[in-house]
Amino acid sequence: MAKARVAIVISGRGSNMAALIYAAKAGDCPFEIVSVIGDAGSSGLTLAVAEGIKTVALPKPLPGNKAAFFEALGDALEMATPDCVALAGFMHILPLTLVDRWRERMINIHPSLLPKYKGLDTHTRAIAAGDAVAGCSVHLVTPELDAGAVLDQTEVAVLSNDTPETLAARVLIAEHQLYPRVLAAYVQRDRDPDWLLRKVRELAMAQPEADEITSHGMPCFGIIKGKKFAYFTHDHHGDGKTALLVKISGGEEQAMLIESDSDRYYRPAYFGDGWIGIRLDLGDTDWDHIGDWIAKSWRAVAPKKLAGLMGVADQF
Ligand code: GRF
Repeated sequence: MAKARVAIVISGRGSNMAALIYAAKAGDCPFEIVSVIGDAGSSGLTLAVAEGIKTVALPKPLPGNKAAFFEALGDALEMATPDCVALAGFMHILPLTLVDRWRERMINIHPSLLPKYKGLDTHTRAIAAGDAVAGCSVHLVTPELDAGAVLDQTEVAVLSNDTPETLAARVLIAEHQLYPRVLAAYVQRDRDPDWLLRKVRELAMAQPEADEITSHGMPCFGIIKGKKFAYFTHDHHGDGKTALLVKISGGEEQAMLIESDSDRYYRPAYFGDGWIGIRLDLGDTDWDHIGDWIAKSWRAVAPKKLAGLMGVADQF
């Protein structure tokens, strides 16, 4: 399987960057580091160059105007064509455009047990609060600072004689273990059945009057007191597939889809001609497309009155 392409963005010494670079040297690591982008003069950039990684030094931001700085960062990311962007000690708050561009593909490491202590001086605040445990978190980057979904955390005991510096040094050891592990899991998420089910559930439950039940051992989504419009199947009867089943118009459409892409589409056993199986475990799922399939399937089974109301709503 091709390794996921990761770009790292840093501002300083880059010890987390180094942890990711060294982790990526293992033959079975699911990611490779394709670029390190950082503030000009960051010592981490020197290390990345020595490791033979493509680096980009960003121009110094002008006082009060970071537009050119962020434009250069945006360009460097586009050039790197990463599957995932790992912020590692990047000390600038990203503009919304960049956060949006890399939505769900940009993660960050933060030295606290989020949601506690967002922002700076996390260790000082943990000690001042008398916390028995501190730690670190890897989270998705969203517009609000340090507020995206936490992917995983490591707790680190606080010692009675800890200073912010001694605690930071120990938390940093935990960071170096946590970040490569979380990144490895994250780049493989679209092969994880639990993650795939969560995605399908999110899209299905966003349909009007949607409801979830279990049917034939599968998570199944229908209209409350109405018909079913989507099933999530994982290794059903040992078929080895993780897939979404949605309604279609009939045998002709089914045959056409299977002919167009026989790796992705299949005739689901026991469901007849009115359904199509769409594999979700191929590693290249287009989730907007899956969302469209689910909405179309919902429309196919929705009572006319409900579908009609939604049609009207769509026009506004
Ligand atoms: C780390 O503590 C990280 O959690 C925070 O900034 C620090 C960066 O350190 N976001 P380094 O540059 O990775 O050594």
